[in-house]
Amino acid sequence: MQPQQLSISYTAYESREQLDAADAALLQRAIDATNDAYAPYSHFRVGAAALLENGEVVLGSNQENASYPVGLCAERVLLSAVSSVYPNVPIKTMAITYRSESGKSNRPISPCGVCRQTLVEYENRLKQPIRLILGGMDGKIWIIPQAGSLLPFGFSGEDLL
Ligand code: THU
Repeated sequence: MQPQQLSISYTAYESREQLDAADAALLQRAIDATNDAYAPYSHFRVGAAALLENGEVVLGSNQENASYPVGLCAERVLLSAVSSVYPNVPIKTMAITYRSESGKSNRPISPCGVCRQTLVEYENRLKQPIRLILGGMDGKIWIIPQAGSLLPFGFSGEDLL
């Protein structure tokens, strides 16, 4: 028997002001995208912005439904938009943020499990890591160099071979 350990690397910033200009600009696009959220049930607006290898920025936001499980998270809306509009163009960085109408928005958001699985599929498909900028309306920001590090022991296409 051999106990093992896993660790992930990420950088924590005290506030948006500490980000470099390009990251701050992408996070601002994600903040803007919270305005496009359709969140009449949770009142939790999530915005995401992807900077692509070709320099384009694509936005996504959560889109809810009266039949709750039908709703989609901002990250998956964004990934589907990118792969439809710019197929096979890798995503360099994705910024994700949120604005809660009922609570504070000062902790970095962290993608849900289904979105992690979807992010990893995209990384594997394009063979390039997706760097994540995770924030709120204020407070700390986390930068994670590779989305896949948030899903250790994940299931992938390799398991189907
Ligand atoms: N949501 C996202 O869009 N992304 C996340 O990372 C977490 C949760 C959405 C789903 C739902 O519309 C609302 O936030 C509350 O869960």
